[in-house]
Amino acid sequence: MNLPARGRAAGKVILLGEHAVVYGRPALAAGIGLGLEVEVTAGTGPARFESDRPELADDPRPACLVAEAAAALGIAGRDLVVRVRSELPAGAGLGSSAALAVAVVRALAAATGRVVGRDEELALGRRLESIFHGQSSGIDPAAAMSDGGLFRFTRGEPPSIVPLRPARSLPMVIALGDRARSTGGAVGGLRARWETERARYERLFDRVGAVVEDGAVAVEAGDLDALGRAFDRNQALLGEIGVSTPEVEARVLAARRAGALGAKLTGGGAGGAVLAITPEPERVAAALAAEGVRTLVVKVAGAVEGRAA
Ligand code: PMV
Repeated sequence: MNLPARGRAAGKVILLGEHAVVYGRPALAAGIGLGLEVEVTAGTGPARFESDRPELADDPRPACLVAEAAAALGIAGRDLVVRVRSELPAGAGLGSSAALAVAVVRALAAATGRVVGRDEELALGRRLESIFHGQSSGIDPAAAMSDGGLFRFTRGEPPSIVPLRPARSLPMVIALGDRARSTGGAVGGLRARWETERARYERLFDRVGAVVEDGAVAVEAGDLDALGRAFDRNQALLGEIGVSTPEVEARVLAARRAGALGAKLTGGGAGGAVLAITPEPERVAAALAAEGVRTLVVKVAGAVEGRAA
């Protein structure tokens, strides 16, 4: 084995379409500059998992993910230490589980010298992500693998991943929540509601799909105002779908009050991050910070930069 070996993968923001994407509607997402790095070194005995994320210390799922990734790559999964260094807040809706899955695959592949093609990496990333989330659309691993561009995603075997070219850069502010929440819980809760009222939820998902189409047109036209309106319409639908919370609504309102053109939850919801679109991200981030909200500024421009504000 070639040790030490490293793998890195990106976090992501979903601009439009989360949750409905699990039910086959399109969504827009982009990788962000913030990510997660995995280093594999030699150890003794069963593979050991170490993380700088304290919330993973007592969590059995990362070790399970490592074991499954090793098996898929034909490695015994012993005599290894797998160390994670993450720039992504966990449980925020920024795709940290998928980034972990893809980074582990990349690091183990580098350790063995095995070349993993993109389709295989995506399929494996998705399988491993489901250890955390159960039913997943695959949009997060697709973003974790992206080099930062914006893309339109529709689930499928294989999924459709089509790059979108924004006519201008899309500056955004992420307003983080106070505590970690569970995407798996939000996805599972929605699944239970959908089971009892399918027609109603399918209609809501169709309306989300229509907002995503309008948003894609706005992105390609560089029309930030129209994209802001799409954010707001999507947020209203996410509320109807039952994945928003009063605390998310408060941050959405705070972002709009601070001058954002539109704001919505991003990712799994039920708490978690809020994404706001604005031509003046520093000003909006400062106004939110003054209200005690932690923020990140990201810019999608065909290539994406992400950094802590
Ligand atoms: O909370 P995150 O960052 O894992 O995003 C989940 C996105 C969902 O659409 C809610 C689920 C999925 O698999 O697409």
